[in-house]
Amino acid sequence: MTYEEAKQKLAAKSQEYILKYFQDLTPEVQEGLLKQIDELDLSLLDFIEKGTAQDIRGKLEPLGALTLEQIEEKRDHYETLGTQMIKQGKVGAVLLAGGQGTRLGFDKPKGMLNVGVTKELYLFEQLIYNLMDVTEKTGNSIPLFIMTSEKNDKDTRAFFEEHDYFGYDRDAVYFFLQEMALSAGYDGKIFMQDKGRIVTSPNGNGGWFSSMDKAGYLPVLKNLGVEYLNVFAVDNVLQRIADPVFIGAVYDADCICGAKVVAKADANEKVGVLCLEDGRPSIVEYYEMTDEMIHSRGKDGRLSYNYGVILNYLFRVDTLTKIMNENLKIHVVRKKVPYMDENKEWITPEEPNGYKFELLVLDMIHMMDHCLSFEVDREKEFAPIKNKTGADSLESARMLMKKNGIAL
Ligand code: UTP
Repeated sequence: MTYEEAKQKLAAKSQEYILKYFQDLTPEVQEGLLKQIDELDLSLLDFIEKGTAQDIRGKLEPLGALTLEQIEEKRDHYETLGTQMIKQGKVGAVLLAGGQGTRLGFDKPKGMLNVGVTKELYLFEQLIYNLMDVTEKTGNSIPLFIMTSEKNDKDTRAFFEEHDYFGYDRDAVYFFLQEMALSAGYDGKIFMQDKGRIVTSPNGNGGWFSSMDKAGYLPVLKNLGVEYLNVFAVDNVLQRIADPVFIGAVYDADCICGAKVVAKADANEKVGVLCLEDGRPSIVEYYEMTDEMIHSRGKDGRLSYNYGVILNYLFRVDTLTKIMNENLKIHVVRKKVPYMDENKEWITPEEPNGYKFELLVLDMIHMMDHCLSFEVDREKEFAPIKNKTGADSLESARMLMKKNGIAL
């Protein structure tokens, strides 16, 4: 892209100030800035206004789950099915590790967090051990795709190298980069990193499959014969990965997708709940629910909107390929974004100061015709580390790890 073209593109959205220092930059930095502008999706800025319009929901109705009791009754059957599928190489896993963990405020990739107490035990390490609980039984390695972002890719790869992949088969590990997006202040102006660079940040976890495609991994999935992908978050240390019981149950129910869910701890718990929207599976956020929905109960006495998602999904690869080019909703979120101001001062905000634009994996669920809601025991499978202290923190996760007999 030439300088003139960049100027025109920016002018269309009143963002010309980005080129204010262009003449002061070295040719290399100039080239980098033009490339950034060329790649920039300026249409994201329209969503600052449009945000609420795209939030209009269809008709919401409760969706039950395959409950713990029902799963227990057929556990052996599901496990046999799932184990067979893994042994046939039909299952891959995708670790979403491109986030910035701003709430935790850890300056390295979140997976590098030491969750040990008397010894070193890293989040990535424990996740690999959880995966190896399965591969040690099936006897074959499960391909593990790890999504990173420009911000943490180098550190993540180096960490796995340094720790010899924590004993996992390194040939079965595939890294790929997610996309980045611009961020803007409340005045709608795109944030600058310095005189020659725009601030970009990871664009949410929803673009993972198209990023896998961009990385050239679709033919790899095909060659390996992978038909199902188990997608999971980096920060749930008790995460069961490629769980044969879950995989077998989704297959048995003839579903194209499955979601692990936990029964809400209480009606007001702030989790996204799996439900139906216009007859299709969907996730409703706690702040989108009316009081009536929050407190309504079914005949069995359970909450009608009872099952919260824990970011552990199973998708069929053929379905993902079909929906890959459909647009996911853009979430405009208020976040703290450090930036260079008009006086060239570096500002590190204490409070949210602007918008980031994110795609979320949970929106993929609504693109599925059906989804098996699969209940798991939260004490055994849900120990997220999101915050510095209190709920969903390192401390609460350590307590749950101890309860599950993990030596810390
Ligand atoms: P969160 O939504 O908790 O985001 O991610 P985060 O970036 O880790 O933390 P906060 O919100 O800034 O505090 C849920 C999962 O999705 C991944 C995260 O790494 C985590 O596994 N994720 C999130 C990505 O892979 N990319 C993203 O752009 C955002």
